[in-house]
Amino acid sequence: MAGATGSVGKEGYDTHAATYEKIATTPSGILEEQLLASAMGDCTGLAVLDLGGGTGLRARQAVKLGASHVDVVDVSPEMLRIGQQQTSSEYDGRIAWHEADVSKPLDDKLQLRKTYDLVMANWVLDSAGSLADLEGMWANVGARLRPGGRYVGIRVNDPWAPYMADGRYGVRFREKERIPGGVRYWYIFDDPAGNKEPVEIEGASLEISYSGSTELHTKYGLCDVEIEPFENAKIVREDPEFWKPFLDRPLLAVVKARKQGGE
Ligand SMILES: C[S@@+](CC[C@H](N)C(=O)[O-])C[C@H]1O[C@@H](n2cnc3c(N)ncnc32)[C@H](O)[C@@H]1O
Repeated sequence: MAGATGSVGKEGYDTHAATYEKIATTPSGILEEQLLASAMGDCTGLAVLDLGGGTGLRARQAVKLGASHVDVVDVSPEMLRIGQQQTSSEYDGRIAWHEADVSKPLDDKLQLRKTYDLVMANWVLDSAGSLADLEGMWANVGARLRPGGRYVGIRVNDPWAPYMADGRYGVRFREKERIPGGVRYWYIFDDPAGNKEPVEIEGASLEISYSGSTELHTKYGLCDVEIEPFENAKIVREDPEFWKPFLDRPLLAVVKARKQGGE
């Protein structure tokens, strides 16, 4: 059960926080980084909110792309603690860390900005085990984006892509159970050095998300919803043969959209 928070997998993130960023070195992690860079584009001077931002892997990427400030909000104290520890002084003052459940309205005490130029939700939508929790996350995306502001988020696209059984791209999938409107599962990645137990963390994805429906984007005020083309990642262009099974049934999608209004 998700328990008191809207987070599926919180215990796993708390346990594996120190090794979590190893996922970034897998082919899937490299693809993700390159697609995100393409989707985020120039972030010069932007104020960014990173919902479910974990250890700040993507917050640091946003800063490298020019963001002036990133607020990372995450429910796992360990992910935040490790993130702060791993974030070198070159990012000092540009990343702030906040502990909260982003499936619930965000408390004023968190000292977040009222609105942001860019809101990210990378993988966190795949920790929502119920429609109410997923909608709570989308409500925060919509509420915290300024009119015309941009949304970028990674989500599961096809939990049952066949290659997810053997981990060709660095991450494996094992179904746990079907839930109303979706599925709960374990995603697993191996320690690249091969000397530790694989990391297993629980996830939950709802069909309203992985089907590609834009219903919730629209409901919470977003428009111009697009999926970042996979060819925009160098790693895919360089080895289309290796990526063919992925391109036939992509596991993930980097989604970008815009908040209605503005210029
Ligand atoms: C797969 S990790 C992704 C972390 C980061 N976005 C990235 O791409 O590297 C998912 C993160 O979402 C966080 N999370 C899950 N459910 C959450 C919730 N309801 N509220 C806040 N954070 C949540 C987890 O603690 C974890 O850090």
